[in-house]
Amino acid sequence: MKKINKVKGTQDFLPDDMILWKRAVEQIHSIMQRYSYGQISTPIFEHTNLFSRSIGEDTDIVNKEMYTWIDQGGKSLTLKPEQTAAVVRAYIDNNLQSTSPMTRLYYIEPSFRRERPQKGRYRQFHQFGVEAIGSAYPEIDAEIILIAYRTCMELGIKDINLHLNSIGSISCREKYISNLIEFLKSHSNHLSEISRKRINTNPLRILDTKDPKEIEILENAPNILDYINAECSEHFDELCTLLESSSIPYTIDKKLVRGLDYYTKTTFEIRSNSLGAQSAVCGGGRYDSLISQLGGKETPAVGFAMGLERATLLSNINLTDSPTLVYIAPIGEKSIERGFAIAEELRLLKKNTIHLEVSRKSIKAQFREANKLDATFVIVIGENELIKGGCTIKNLSTKIEKFVTNSDITNFFT
Ligand code: HAM
Repeated sequence: MKKINKVKGTQDFLPDDMILWKRAVEQIHSIMQRYSYGQISTPIFEHTNLFSRSIGEDTDIVNKEMYTWIDQGGKSLTLKPEQTAAVVRAYIDNNLQSTSPMTRLYYIEPSFRRERPQKGRYRQFHQFGVEAIGSAYPEIDAEIILIAYRTCMELGIKDINLHLNSIGSISCREKYISNLIEFLKSHSNHLSEISRKRINTNPLRILDTKDPKEIEILENAPNILDYINAECSEHFDELCTLLESSSIPYTIDKKLVRGLDYYTKTTFEIRSNSLGAQSAVCGGGRYDSLISQLGGKETPAVGFAMGLERATLLSNINLTDSPTLVYIAPIGEKSIERGFAIAEELRLLKKNTIHLEVSRKSIKAQFREANKLDATFVIVIGENELIKGGCTIKNLSTKIEKFVTNSDITNFFT
């Protein structure tokens, strides 16, 4: 029969891949504990209009990348393409505002986008993200950026650049967008077909172009920072001062508008040159209007999300301190019961990894496998050992062998 392949753009994580993944996740939980954030998990699918109302109808995500279907009850549902909208929905649904005026949340969740797969870009990927809901002040923007930066550092991601911008409030943007449209129309002959279409639907997205000719044209485009009002400008200056005082290097990037519609004021991305075209390790910003747009009370908020696949591709975490592996080698059928019991006794010590041989291999084959698994100890239980009421423990690094009686085995490993 013909084999069934995995869906394009998805990945299997095999046990060896999961070692790094688990370590990265542990590191993230530890960082989040230090910064006093609580974990949240939302369903993997939501009502489709949650995303069209928040991310925006004219964005690539909503337009062409969502996995959407009509269920048997006639409801349009969508696999989450990102987490912020779902977290805000849960925040409103569960009335989290009533518990505390400031809510600090984080998540590690699968996300789904039907993008063209390439290195670092998948159709199912995972986002580690942080959402701080309830403060309008720049110190929380700085805290969020600090967490993103610190996570990259602690995951050992090198060669990163923090890009920072402010896109002001919705009202600051109105004048900017009309001037940008005017500028783009005056250069429309030199723009690609897709950018020409975007002039009227989503002109800000054109700033994000990868086309070298368009990048050159946009050098002279109006700068959003010249259009933001005094309050937004002060917010941005205070944020920059806080980042400088925390020694976080950044580059102001007037073209950083991001691909989701809900942002106000701060936008940022951390990029790495080692990722090729998919250079964003994480991205985020402030979204002061989203909670009221989704039916909650007007509440300021800021957050970011990091692609865990991209982060682990770049990470350099030390993986050498894994627990000692003890290989249990029963020789002959009579030893199976004893081997089985020793394995569980040692697992109860919660110290080492216990690998019980279950294929009834020869002693030679068992030692070969123990070496391959990088075991430190092999516990041999043969006929001789059964008669003498114990086992032989061989240390594979020192090659020293020792007979240990049944009652002393757990002591040996404590
Ligand atoms: P985003 O920039 O769309 O923002 O995604 C955040 C991160 O998710 C990206 O920087 C990237 O690392 C990862 N990512 C996105 N698409 C893919 C993909 N197809 N394959 C692998 N990784 C991917 C958001 O999603 C916002 N919700 C971030 C946010 C949180 N803003 C405020 N709070």
